[in-house]
Amino acid sequence: MSTTTVYAKRRAAIAKALKAAGGGIALLPTAPESPRNRDSDFPYRHDSYFYYLTGFEEPSSWLLIEASGKTTLFCRPKDLEREIWDGIRLGPKAAPAALGVDAAFSVDKLDEKMPDLLANQKAVWFPFATHKGLETQVDGWLNAVRARVRMGAECPQSQHDLCRLLDEMRLFKDSHEIAILRRAGQISAGAHVRAMMTSAAMLRSGAHGVKGGPREYHLEAELLHEFRRHGSQFPAYTSIVAAGANACILHYRAGDAALKPGELCLIDAGCELDGYASDITRTFPADGKFTPAQRTLYDIVVAAQEAAIKVTKPGKRFTDPHDAAARVLAQGMLDVGLLNKSKHGKVDDVIESGAYRQFYMHRTGHWMGMDVHDCGDYTEPGSKPREEKDALGQLVMKKPPRILRAGMVTTIEPGLYVRPAKGVPKEFWNIGIRIEDDALVTAKGCELMTRGVPVTADEIEALMA
Ligand code: GLY
Ligand code: MN
Ligand code: MN
Repeated sequence: MSTTTVYAKRRAAIAKALKAAGGGIALLPTAPESPRNRDSDFPYRHDSYFYYLTGFEEPSSWLLIEASGKTTLFCRPKDLEREIWDGIRLGPKAAPAALGVDAAFSVDKLDEKMPDLLANQKAVWFPFATHKGLETQVDGWLNAVRARVRMGAECPQSQHDLCRLLDEMRLFKDSHEIAILRRAGQISAGAHVRAMMTSAAMLRSGAHGVKGGPREYHLEAELLHEFRRHGSQFPAYTSIVAAGANACILHYRAGDAALKPGELCLIDAGCELDGYASDITRTFPADGKFTPAQRTLYDIVVAAQEAAIKVTKPGKRFTDPHDAAARVLAQGMLDVGLLNKSKHGKVDDVIESGAYRQFYMHRTGHWMGMDVHDCGDYTEPGSKPREEKDALGQLVMKKPPRILRAGMVTTIEPGLYVRPAKGVPKEFWNIGIRIEDDALVTAKGCELMTRGVPVTADEIEALMA
């Protein structure tokens, strides 16, 4: 299937959904450019929904899809002067052949053409609460349509959130997406391998002459180098490279802390490739050898991840991997004395009381795709709310969690984070561990797309030796 066909098929699916909902038109802008400071912009990143339906990466673009299947694109006009400075533009004349849309206009004509396009449509669909000012723009265009009512034009009678349709489609990855996700996972795994090896090599060799020894940013540089040299356009999110106690700060960024022998380093980093994310975490000894205390906790997290992987399969609920991982972690906490058995009881008591959250305070996964925290409902569509306990033990009405099905992609990322505290064995203080892989739910189980980097303590030590 050609790439143009991939996007055309997705647009046709939206048109079909509009038709099924009684007709209408969908409109979708891409992301705006965003200034960083003075004359510099942040690197431009298209809107994920827009890219999903067009494969088009230029800013200032809009897509319209009618229930009839007709598609219209607005994009930047050709402009020799601007193109000399900023790069080649596709332009409206070339857009239909290049992107497979039926019609294309300059974005300068947006306000003039939009009322024509919206007139006599039953409903208008656009993404709610995602593009600043979009609602006001739509209001303005609808107002212009209303002004023509005397001339026989009809104004759309309802507005709907286009995200609702797109989120559900994006939750199930097609073969085009899976191929890119696999490749992104491979590249990121290679980057983690490179960072691990660099850490060991720098510490062993007196840090290649780096004054004061290796630091977190040295490993970040290795990650970025590896991402980019394989064609990745950006990191999918800001890389975490956390040496020692920094690993216990969940949203730490790569800073300038020194990597020390005898301490762990946690790296949570993934590349974005052709619009698709990857999301890997590995935790390794900076010098390549786990201490007994580090290894004790590390093996518990490995076991927790294995338990979660086993229940990442069709028919299970989204929360089942979390529950499986939390149980193994909680049992481990009791076994090694992070939680005192006489105070906290047995594993069921620890799950019930939530005492394990002192050392494991996040969820075990999230959808992943074009966005690292991807869209998609976490509860089962069409199901009835039922009474459930929330994190604080209060009864709340909640829809049951989503049932896993083939084509969904979720991360599996258990961890243990031990901050110094009274009653916590000192040997474990300041150890932070997370292991994260990206799983594609398959017909029978799941495929881990990020296993090009070792996971077990033995494998990691062997790699870094
Ligand atoms: N790297 C973001 C996350 O793991 O959720
Ligand atoms: Mn993640
Ligand atoms: Mn992550």
